[in-house]
Amino acid sequence: MKFDSSIQRIGVFTSGGDAPGMNAAVRAVVRASIFYGKQAVGIYRGYEGMIEGDMKLLDSRSVSNIIQRGGTILKSARSTEFRTPEGRKKAYENLKAHQIDALVAIGGDGTFRGAHLLHEEFGIPVVGLPGTIDNDLNGTDFTIGYDTAVNTAAFAIDKVRDTASSHNRLFFIEVMGRHSGQIALRSSIAAGAEATMIPEQPMGIDEIVKILETGASRSKSSSLVVVAEGGKTGRSFDIAKEVNERFSHYDTKVTILGHLQRGGSPTVADRVLASRMGVVAVEALLGGKTDVMIGIVNNQINFEPFAEATGKVDNFDPEMLRIANILSF
Ligand code: F6P
Repeated sequence: MKFDSSIQRIGVFTSGGDAPGMNAAVRAVVRASIFYGKQAVGIYRGYEGMIEGDMKLLDSRSVSNIIQRGGTILKSARSTEFRTPEGRKKAYENLKAHQIDALVAIGGDGTFRGAHLLHEEFGIPVVGLPGTIDNDLNGTDFTIGYDTAVNTAAFAIDKVRDTASSHNRLFFIEVMGRHSGQIALRSSIAAGAEATMIPEQPMGIDEIVKILETGASRSKSSSLVVVAEGGKTGRSFDIAKEVNERFSHYDTKVTILGHLQRGGSPTVADRVLASRMGVVAVEALLGGKTDVMIGIVNNQINFEPFAEATGKVDNFDPEMLRIANILSF
């Protein structure tokens, strides 16, 4: 591909919650920039580092040996100062001082709301890569980090199952997902749980009790219920207590998987997704695109405007819940 672009220096940063595969994305952005004869600058700690001028040139070797590593070598943060016009102005001035002409923002909805403002207020070209375990953005089938988190959750649920079945217990296993049941639903299917509680289709205590009673009447000697945290870590304790008051057939326990779902070496699916998206992000910038997130829908590249990517998320597939329910009988 040939580009007639005035962009010489591309800044790359990771922001919001870290996600496995972010390093693979950073590597792809740096290497693709260099491939096209441009320079890449790493901005540390997301918008915080942009405000403080914490950035440095990255060469090809500086991103060696990171494709397989979880977390983010660029570090990450959730910046409150960047939410103010003064904070954003400081950030922009630092970008100018470091001669950064364009940006690749890797993160989730908060990151893209910030990126949209940078584009709108200062006209700097910026494209985004969806980096979040939650898979809660419009315009892409999968976000970077989601597949790894689901695998981690599913294998953890397998382990809990060993204890559940050895002791005839009922376990509520809480997984991450701020306002999203995506990790819960997929890991629940993969680990064969009895029920899945997700914000997209809330389930009352009556319904859970009924599922558990039916299971017990069919000779199930233990049960697993996967609960999406839904923005309130620990909610599964309240659910377990309420259920136990009405259904005490099994000894009841709660396991919160928490941040272990955010860490670890990314799966092949996440490494490849991040690599592909990272190259496309650089090509999109050099081709004149801005204010868009790179997505992949049905294996085709999609340029989703930030405003739409972060709008009301519509990626819940009722078919997956139907499958989970049929198979848990
Ligand atoms: O957005 C990713 C995520 O891990 C959510 O699933 C979770 O609700 C949130 O971040 C936790 O954030 P923090 O690490 O700041 O506690």
